Order: sequence, then structure tokens, then C-alpha cells
Amino acid sequence: RFADVAQAPPDPILGVSEAFRASTNPNKLNLGVGAYRDEDLKPVVLNVVKKAEGNIFSRNENKEYLSIEGLEGFRRATVDLLLGQGHPAIQEGRVAAIQSLSGTGSLRVGAAFIARFLKGATVYISNPTWGNHRNIFGDEGVEWKHYRYFDAATVGLDFKGLTEDLTAAPPGSVVLLHGCAHNPTGVDPTPEQWAAIADLCKERNLLPFFDVAYQGFATGDLDKDAFAPRLFVERGLEILVSQSYSKNLGLYGERVGALVMVVQDKESATRCLSQLKRLARALYSNPPTHGAKIAAEVVNNKELFDEWKVEMRGMAGRIERVRGELQAALEAKCPQKDWSFITRQIGMFSFTGLSPAQVDNMTNKHAVYMTRDGRISLAGLNSAKVEYLADAIVDSVRN
Ligand code: LMR
Repeated sequence: RFADVAQAPPDPILGVSEAFRASTNPNKLNLGVGAYRDEDLKPVVLNVVKKAEGNIFSRNENKEYLSIEGLEGFRRATVDLLLGQGHPAIQEGRVAAIQSLSGTGSLRVGAAFIARFLKGATVYISNPTWGNHRNIFGDEGVEWKHYRYFDAATVGLDFKGLTEDLTAAPPGSVVLLHGCAHNPTGVDPTPEQWAAIADLCKERNLLPFFDVAYQGFATGDLDKDAFAPRLFVERGLEILVSQSYSKNLGLYGERVGALVMVVQDKESATRCLSQLKRLARALYSNPPTHGAKIAAEVVNNKELFDEWKVEMRGMAGRIERVRGELQAALEAKCPQKDWSFITRQIGMFSFTGLSPAQVDNMTNKHAVYMTRDGRISLAGLNSAKVEYLADAIVDSVRN
């Protein structure tokens, strides 16, 4: 019966972590998965998370099921974080939000919603994009296509290509946009370009679906990093948003996030929420409690919220610093090449431009584990390893 089941390929990102764990090379460096590490390359539990857990444990709460849509305080906090507290759309009751399983789970509920209620719509996904986007929509049976995004020549945004592709998209299509800190390129549209994309979505009747996985990691400021979805709402667009607390609150394994829909009126929001609940019930029933309680505790408590912002800036700042150090090391070792893209790119990643063969050299010869699209997670780098990494990159570029 099962003899004909073919072997699935390793995941392009999490498969790298598996390979890293299996390596016995003492110099091994994991720059694959986007997960924050401290200067000792150890995972971090934020202080605010520990404090929030202390508060939660002291209340001695039960382990009952949450409602299908999730924890009320969490949903409110998450929408506030996205749109800003007291946003008119919130006051008008035209926001539907369902707590879901971090970014992936929220995107998947969104994909299921599209499959059911926007039948036949194509989802346009940036090229390149996060390795899981194609699986999420493909596995729901939603057709997806690429739109041009990255210009390798300028190591910047291919705005012309993006505009042409979205202009050619049939009305009613969905456009998946990275809210900030585009993964894997670290290249975001400028505010003016965002405004033009919003206008294009409006003119062409395209539905924007924002993937917001790095709020706080682009500029270190939660509000600034929500610029794009807020702008689209301001311009009168209906939007879908998936939000994740994996990176900004370091709640990776707790699977904390939400799918948010900002729609035209309260009645539509009520009906959409009822359908999101219907979809979630069949997918996983109801979301997990612990991480949502932590996020709600942090966002809804002024003192913890302020402390969180400081800790987040600390994480973003460490990444900024190693970015600068890596660029300087590469400029010293290989001055004939322009490395300035490393500090121009934002967020957790650098998109190095290394080819798959060069990535193989990085991994096989130098035990630097990274995704084959040439992305490195700078959250997995420390000062002590900068020289080692720079040598490996220079050697791979020359090969
Ligand atoms: C990444 O891009 O490395 C992260 O979003 C982790 C993941 O789930 O792929």
C-alpha cells in the first residue's frame, strides 16, 4: 500500500537545520533558518516573555480550549499592533481577526478562505519569496504565479517588473506582499513605491494579502514597520494580513499569530469571521493558549510593552552590527567587489547572490549552512564568526 510513496525532498529552510544538526564539523555555522541568536549563538527567551509567563503562572489558569477564533485579549492586541490603537477601521468594527498558528497557519487559513470564497483567483507571489509560500497556496489548490521583485543587477527592487506584472494580473487576483523586511531579499519598496502599489491594487481590483512576519525587525520600530498595511487601509483597500510573533517576541515554537481581514463594513467582517472560524475548526479546531497569553500580556501591559520594544531594538541592533562587520570584512578581503548591499538590505537576512553551486561550496567545504537561494540569516552570526564567514564567501565567489 505504501510502497509507492515517493520520498519528499527536504524543506529548503528547515531541511538546512536538519543538515546542520547532523554535521560533526566543529566550525559549523547555521545561517539557514531565520531565528534569532545572541552573541554566543544561543537561542534567546526575551525577558518580557519570562515576566509575562511569571504573571500567567501566578494566576493559576486552566487549560480549557480557547474559542475557535482564539484569545480575545490577544486578538485585540494583535490588531492594535497592526493598525495602531484606536484605528478607525477597528472602531467601525470592520476588522475580522482569528488567532492562528503563527505565520504559516495564518497564511494557510487565508489560503483556505481564498480557495473557498474567491474561487479561481490566482495568488501573485514575489520572485523570490519565502520558501513556504508556494507550498501553502499550492497545497490548498490555489493557483499561484510569480511577479518580478528582485533585480540582481542593482541588488534592489525591480519596480518596473513588479508594476508590469501586477498590471497584467487579472482583476480579482490576490497579491501577496511582505509587510516589511522582505524574505529572502531584505529589499523593501520605498514609501512612494508602496503608495504606487496600493494605487495599482485599487485600479486593477487586486486583493493585497500582507505577510507580516518581521514587524519590529526592519526599522526596530513596530509602528514604522506597519507602514505598508496601514497605508493600504488608509487608501480604502480591503486587505488580508497574516501576523507572526515568532521573530519579534521570539515565540517560535509556541506558534503564535493571527489572520486579520480589514473589510468594507461591519456586517462583512462578522460574516468573514464566521467563515474563518468554520475553516479553522476543520483544520485544527482552536489555537494553542500559552503563547497567545504571553503576547497579550506583553502588548496589553504598558510596562512590558515598553520593555519589549527595547529588547526588540536590541535584537535588531545586534543584526545591524554584524551586517556592518561582515561588509567591512568582505570589503577588506575582496575589495574589487561591491559589498554595500549587505548593509542596504534590512531585516534578518542578507541575499548574497551566491549561486547554488557556490552555496554548496559554502556548506560542503566550510560547513556554513544556508539556503540554496543564497540567503544567509544574520541572526545566526556573531562577531567571532565574521572573519570565518567572510573567508568562506570569498572562497566561494572565486570558485
Ligand atoms: C525563515 O524564513 O527562515 C523562517 O521564516 C522560518 C521558517 O519557518 O521558514
